[in-house]
Amino acid sequence: MYKLIDGKEISKSIRSELSNKISLLKKAVGLAVVLVGNNSASQVYVKNKIKACEEVGIKSFAHYLPENTSQTELENLLKKLADDETVHGILVQLPLPKHISEDALRLIPHEKDVDGFSAENVGSLCLKQKGTVPCTPYGIMKMLEYENIDICGKNAVVVGRSNIVGKPIAMLLLNSDATVTVCHSKTKNLKDICKSADILIVAIGKAKFIKSDMVKDGAVVIDVGMNRDESGKLCGDVDFESVKDKCSHITPVPGGVGPMTITMLMYNTYVSAKRSLK
Ligand code: GUN
Repeated sequence: MYKLIDGKEISKSIRSELSNKISLLKKAVGLAVVLVGNNSASQVYVKNKIKACEEVGIKSFAHYLPENTSQTELENLLKKLADDETVHGILVQLPLPKHISEDALRLIPHEKDVDGFSAENVGSLCLKQKGTVPCTPYGIMKMLEYENIDICGKNAVVVGRSNIVGKPIAMLLLNSDATVTVCHSKTKNLKDICKSADILIVAIGKAKFIKSDMVKDGAVVIDVGMNRDESGKLCGDVDFESVKDKCSHITPVPGGVGPMTITMLMYNTYVSAKRSLK
């Protein structure tokens, strides 16, 4: 029998604790959320982030910029937000339109980089030093912690090598003493590598890609994907129905990693505000 890792429930408990902590701060906590363009998935993510801010008592400053925004216009906004003392966290929703370079994100001071994407924060993670941990990988680690899943000495396989999920989760697992393998589109023998995983993390954006013959009996499976299947229904990168009975633990989509990402964004923003009050 598998255990479902309920990201909504875990989020609820973290958010309620967080909401108490935020109410005890002497100043309002502020998060600026910047969305450039009309990507419909991004619009939903941003809406959910703003809703979560309301829920935990963070003041959100939403900036919706049109698709034809120039690099300079985005950079000017980021400079303004960097100097704004009421803003403790700045989030630019990715992906940006193709004509805008992610170099713009360098204008976010690392203390306000609540996504943990800056070179400073990435470096801290690699060096196992204090810093802001990217929200999705942080949320995954929290889920493993809540479920008392042992990481030390385990074979962890990460499928996907993105800067947002694959690379940082690999580093976090390594920092927790797992033996980590990172797979990607050019990996040979993916099936056998996945099958060696005690902990399998999948973040590739391909609907139902991981099938039961790629999963070891008793594995912990974390599905970061958010896709639509043939009939338009939300689904992950893991073929849940075929894989679930092989797992000791598995995350659902929706209701797994997604809510945890937003919860850890709220947490990172709180930490950023608290630090600024010192
Ligand atoms: N796009 C997909 N995931 C994320 C995330 O965690 N943060 C930001 N800023 N953009 C994203």
